[in-house]
Amino acid sequence: MNIVILTGAGVSAESGLGTFREKDGLWTKYDLNEVATPQGFARNPALVHDFYNARRANCRGAAPNAAHHALARLQAGYTKGSVSLITQNVDDLHERGGATGVIHMHGELSRALCAACGHRWDAPQAMAPEDPCPACGAQATRPDIVWFGEFPYHMERIETLLAACDLFVSIGTSGNVYPAAGFAEEARIAGARTLELNLEPSEGMIPFDEARYGPATRIVPDWVEELLAGQA
Ligand code: APR
Repeated sequence: MNIVILTGAGVSAESGLGTFREKDGLWTKYDLNEVATPQGFARNPALVHDFYNARRANCRGAAPNAAHHALARLQAGYTKGSVSLITQNVDDLHERGGATGVIHMHGELSRALCAACGHRWDAPQAMAPEDPCPACGAQATRPDIVWFGEFPYHMERIETLLAACDLFVSIGTSGNVYPAAGFAEEARIAGARTLELNLEPSEGMIPFDEARYGPATRIVPDWVEELLAGQA
């Protein structure tokens, strides 16, 4: 059985990174048009760099939680097929929890991008508008994050995985943002069973075949241990 997992901010919530649309969520404190769109960056690059510098510092101070570790155990221990891990998150807690080959469809806080030449490199702890690109020297550096209105990364690879998946698992996402919110439907059309592991029912477009609700640090390890025990 090929498993495709999609995670959202809820998988990192118990690591203290917060989410976007719940009360106290990031989008209740910042105007996403100002800090998460190309237009906002063009208007005020310093504000946008400050926003991601703060998130980068927040992420550095956070630790992976039991859900991150459980998904890494699943990747390492599942022998009945492939386990692909797609995340909407830009933090590196999946990797620090032991996961490999994580598909970051919305980019990564730990990476920087030159808007002039397309060069990518490991982001410094703090970025500023006047930073020169290490490759071309232009002062056009930006966080390597996919903003609203931009096309998510790795979509061809994701479509291929969804077309061949037998079990699609959505973890810690509200199902508000496309194309990620449409992945469950795509997988279902391809014949996959769908499972939601979330704190509460998401707003996705279709009902899942199975859903378990509760904190990710409890329901994700429970599900992983069940799956690994079942293959013995
Ligand atoms: N355990 C499990 N799920 C949780 C937990 C938890 N401890 N805490 C919160 N959640 C769930 C919430 O119920 C909600 O459904 O996580 C989800 C978080 O939803 P959002 O804040 O909308 O985050 P996400 O779905 O990841 O947002 C998707 O939107 O702003 C863009 O690019 C950004 O990647 C982000 C995308």
